[in-house]
Amino acid sequence: MAERIEDIALAMVAKGKGILAADESSGTIAKRFDALRIKSTEEARRDYREMLFRSEAMKTAVSGVILYDETIRQKAKDGTPLVDLIKAAGAVPGIKVDTGAKDLALSPGEKITEGLDGLRERLKDYYALGARFAKWRAVIDIGPAMPTWNCIHANAQALARYAALCQEAGIVPIVEPEVLMDGPVAAHDIDVCYGTTEWVLKTVFQELFVAHVVLEGMVLKPNMVVPGKKSAKQASPAEVAEKTARVLRECVPAAVAGIAFLSGGQGNEAATEHLSLINQIAGLPWPVTFSYGRALQAAAIETWAGKAENVAAAQRAFNHRAQMNSLASIGEWKPDLEKEAA
Ligand code: 13P
Repeated sequence: MAERIEDIALAMVAKGKGILAADESSGTIAKRFDALRIKSTEEARRDYREMLFRSEAMKTAVSGVILYDETIRQKAKDGTPLVDLIKAAGAVPGIKVDTGAKDLALSPGEKITEGLDGLRERLKDYYALGARFAKWRAVIDIGPAMPTWNCIHANAQALARYAALCQEAGIVPIVEPEVLMDGPVAAHDIDVCYGTTEWVLKTVFQELFVAHVVLEGMVLKPNMVVPGKKSAKQASPAEVAEKTARVLRECVPAAVAGIAFLSGGQGNEAATEHLSLINQIAGLPWPVTFSYGRALQAAAIETWAGKAENVAAAQRAFNHRAQMNSLASIGEWKPDLEKEAA
């Protein structure tokens, strides 16, 4: 496995591959399990992740896996550390290191992501456990008087402090400033998302510069430019792709190792189609791929439903979604491929 952060970052965005975000906290995975009446025990969480990490797509479509603290310490049923399953498949193990988005004081409705205290020591621990990249997610919500400069600036500065600590520890930071698509206002159309995303990304790269973060040794995980779910004005896939590519070109230095999108509540196929269309736009200076959680896992988790007898079918569902996104990461996904598989 590569050891220079620049090389690890390039491996994370290797051609035709993307990142599996499997770093749901115990609370979040419990919500996903509850919806399907699966009991969220430590063993069930392990069995579910083991099923994903032993799938064929891990070798062909997945460059890295983001883990949660519990998972990075877990062993498969046969005693193999889950981290070793990921490495054996040729993917890089990563770890979510933020401790969640908390209410931002005196800024009603806004969040600040926490987790900097003690991070230097935790990163050493995670490195020893095999992690070679990390993730920190900041959330920016769009509302009647939101976001504020206070929220954007505080989150951007925290992302920069996190990224610098990671690089000091030989770990590649995934820098994830997510502009949410499920905010409360109907006026949140694609252009509001564009303007907010532009403001956030410019601020984040300013703070990364101030903090001496090496751009070649990081991966950006942004939202796509999409209308809010409550917006009366929806947008075509072509418009999403064009505006997303435009805002990234405006804000993201070419030296950044790569871009790996979050799915953020987009439908599974929409997330794939958008990624493919973005990759059909000529001349983007970075590799552009996926780092999906829900859009990669939704079908697999439903098919699995907590039952050992469903493992093979759930792996097929995961392989399919990962394969579709692999094609999208080189601009070669087509709707017919979904129908053929069905
Ligand atoms: P989604 O793709 O479900 O948005 O999750 C990606 C992620 O890692 C969010 O932090």
